[in-house]
Amino acid sequence: MRKKIALVGAGNIGGTLAHLIGLKELADVVLIDIAEGMTKGKALDLAQSSSIESFNSNINGSKNFKNLKDADVVIVTAGFQRRPGMTRDDLVEKNSIIIQKVGKEIRKYCSRAFVICITNPLDAMVSILQKSSNLKTNMCVGMAGVLDSARLKYFLSKEFNVSIEDVSAFVLGGHGDSMVPLVRYATVSGIPVPELISLKWTTKKRINEIVDRTRDGGGEINRLMQTSSAFYAPASSAIAMAESYLKDQRRILPCAAYLNGEYNVRGLYVGVPAIIGKKGVEKVVELKLKAEEKKLFNNSIKTVKTLTNLAQKLIKK
Ligand code: APR
Repeated sequence: MRKKIALVGAGNIGGTLAHLIGLKELADVVLIDIAEGMTKGKALDLAQSSSIESFNSNINGSKNFKNLKDADVVIVTAGFQRRPGMTRDDLVEKNSIIIQKVGKEIRKYCSRAFVICITNPLDAMVSILQKSSNLKTNMCVGMAGVLDSARLKYFLSKEFNVSIEDVSAFVLGGHGDSMVPLVRYATVSGIPVPELISLKWTTKKRINEIVDRTRDGGGEINRLMQTSSAFYAPASSAIAMAESYLKDQRRILPCAAYLNGEYNVRGLYVGVPAIIGKKGVEKVVELKLKAEEKKLFNNSIKTVKTLTNLAQKLIKK
């Protein structure tokens, strides 16, 4: 039997997710959104593309959350996106309430699904989603690290003028200005970036600029597009996570995972590398951080904690 992926939110990211799922024949899709016409129109448009792209996924749209039933994976993008000049954190008030509602529907209809949250501010929203859905913490994750790392990888591939396939990199911490790109672990065909600096392929200054550009990755796109935030790379990132779960690939993907003592953090969702397999988040990968990295990571945790607490308060009001 085919798998089923429910997409809560049929906006820019939701539509792109549905398209990718179809092209990859990952599963049947249902788009769920308060804007019902949008779900049905996009579903029909995408379904018609299947006759050219030759894929066999069923794609449907509805405003009814009953359609969450039997979903193996749920990807949540419901909520507001940021506009130029806004930070992700500015969305906390409106999106907390929406995410709480979505979580309750997940609890009612598909409490055994693997759920990926994309709605921002990510680290706080995934925490609200887990609490309101009562999902097991390993079955509820946030998509951020794959995207932030993808941005870092792309900038590095351009800097070195090498294939993106040969670049590996990842980012720790919250999805925001406090994220911690770990340059020490970034490699090109196994050669660490610090070594490439000493081989004069680049300079420390250039790498620092790339790190800053990665931190501002979403903001840069927002300023260019003005009326929308990024959606292609965010959608691809969540699909990588969903695919690793559905196919039990056990990929190590940086994502907002629930920490239960790892990195000396308890009871908080933070961006860390994790193995995603058939049981959801199967293992959080713990790294030994250097003093400077630890400082940045702890600072990021502090920011995530403050925002998560604020979101919890807002939904209690
Ligand atoms: N239930 C279901 N859908 C909702 C609800 C709700 N209560 N509230 C809003 N939505 C829908 C909107 O109708 C809209 O179609 O969420 C969709 C959001 O789509 P876009 O505005 O196009 O935003 P998108 O670019 O897809 O980003 C969604 O992901 O990366 C984050 O910051 C981004 O928080 C934003 C989210």
